[in-house]
Amino acid sequence: MLRNSAGWAGLVIVLGTAAALGHGDTVPQSVDTAGLPELPPEMASENPWREADPALLFKAVDVGAKGYNSNCARCHGLEAISGGLAPDLRYLEANDYGDEWYLDRILHGYEQNGAVKMPPFEGILNQQAIWAIRTYIETRPDDQEMAESRDQIAGLRDKLAGLQDDPAAATAMADELAAAGQGYEALSGAPRAITPFDEAAHLLASDPPHVAAALETLQAAAD
Ligand code: HEC
Repeated sequence: MLRNSAGWAGLVIVLGTAAALGHGDTVPQSVDTAGLPELPPEMASENPWREADPALLFKAVDVGAKGYNSNCARCHGLEAISGGLAPDLRYLEANDYGDEWYLDRILHGYEQNGAVKMPPFEGILNQQAIWAIRTYIETRPDDQEMAESRDQIAGLRDKLAGLQDDPAAATAMADELAAAGQGYEALSGAPRAITPFDEAAHLLASDPPHVAAALETLQAAAD
């Protein structure tokens, strides 16, 4: 009998927790930041990787994309394109003012009339994850501009698909892809936008080259 009531109490606690999290909400996820450089223990007030060299910038975007997709996309939209549920983060200015606002929200979340509209991520995401997500958000290209380039993306995808059995020729497409990625702007005003062209170029230029992943990137962007 005693054991039974303890069992019920446990169940009530579990149900209570689920109710507090709300419909379909998921628990904030930590992010694997292996491969990113250590940052000083004190929180930076500005994105330390805004002007980073390409190798670090792409690493930050890669980690940030994963962190964003598992923690932010369900409210702020896939690829940071808002569906109206929460603000469109691509417009948050890539400067100290935008970073201050970003940090305040990501660390503390947002509550309205006692309801959690956005969960706090302090203590869940480390500093590298926080700035990697910021780097991913602020380097998103304009989706309208990308939509207009869909034919060009599809053309380069087909070319790469034809060369995939010839690694040297496939790798040589990195320069062509990097050139195609020039001239796109980030809506945040960040120093550069990272387009699917740039991502594919980076994957081909890495050692060893990731031809299949580059092809997938172009395929997803051409769809
Ligand atoms: C449960 C939904 C939800 C999740 C998950 C969520 N947010 Fe939010 N977020 C919101 C809402 C709603 C607001 C608007 C709050 C307000 O009025 O300032 C907001 C506001 C923000 C703002 C301020 C934007 C602005 O223009 O004022 C930032 C920055 C932000 N969120 C970043 C993030 C990041 C980064 C993540 C993932 C680590 C995340 N959010 C996860 C719902 C969410």
